[in-house]
Amino acid sequence: MAPAPASVILGPSSDLTPAIGTVFGPNTQLTDLLGNDEAVAALAKLVSERGVLFFERQGITLAQQKELMLRLGALSSPPRPNGSGLHVHPISEDSPELGADTSVISSAGGIARAGYVKNARASGGWHSDISFENYPSDYTMLKMHTIPTTGGDTLWASGYEAYDRLSPAYQKFLEGLTAEHDGNFFHRTAKLENKKIQSPRGHIENSGEDLRSVHPVIRTHPVTGWKTVFLNKTFTTRILELAPAESESVIDYLTRHVSENHDLQVRYRWQQNDVALWDNRCTFHTATNDYGSAPREGFRVVGVGEKPYFDKEGSKSRAESLAGSAGL
Ligand SMILES: [Fe+2]
Repeated sequence: MAPAPASVILGPSSDLTPAIGTVFGPNTQLTDLLGNDEAVAALAKLVSERGVLFFERQGITLAQQKELMLRLGALSSPPRPNGSGLHVHPISEDSPELGADTSVISSAGGIARAGYVKNARASGGWHSDISFENYPSDYTMLKMHTIPTTGGDTLWASGYEAYDRLSPAYQKFLEGLTAEHDGNFFHRTAKLENKKIQSPRGHIENSGEDLRSVHPVIRTHPVTGWKTVFLNKTFTTRILELAPAESESVIDYLTRHVSENHDLQVRYRWQQNDVALWDNRCTFHTATNDYGSAPREGFRVVGVGEKPYFDKEGSKSRAESLAGSAGL
């Protein structure tokens, strides 16, 4: 028997744009889905297809957020590999109440303020969470408990759509290239805030103080089998196979391709206690620092996924895959 559609299992939702983003109203409560394996599996599949899901006015606690993030990994298909758990950020607050596997996203400092440069272009903030790790993230869940009256929106962009917009010749050129991702700027914040770099961080291969890794520029998403661009403005420093000037030019082209195509993005205006759940393997996101000194804070839980790979024969683009589906 075919599995029930996601709308039956998870409740009604609306797609915010064709390329990315789906929102559920407050009648869908993540706490009600927690004990339901079929629902958690449907959630894992849907977020990998749509990139980011929003859930309005949620009652979920931080402990339940962590439980759901562990279950999402266990029930996704294929499941999160053994050895991958919840990420511990290099400069995690690590307080006894919150635990080292909670990232506090706060306007007051810490992770969300690391690397922030006043007067820099807002488009410089696009990233995929913790792509500097050898085993980077699959899913992130963020619940905002304190929001400014206005401002502080978050934007996401689709890596699938970014791939699909490239010409076949440029797609082919990028496939097989690898790039370095560097998060060593967190050392500056660690020093300023008198913190030690956490280690290990959700996987034994995410250990030590050098926050650098190398990943394919075009990556196969293990759940959908779709190709996605996996390179971002915040962490990617160079493409290993290219000369420095070529590398700089390709990184500039691809990051502008993401930030300047607003039709592959979605912008979300938070209400208090909204939750966003996104897939870091096929999306980018950025904060909007337009709310001055107004308090803004949320709790983020980040899952560690698999080692990124590119499977030339076994992957399709999203557009190819949807064009081949019945009725699409
Ligand atoms: Fe982020």
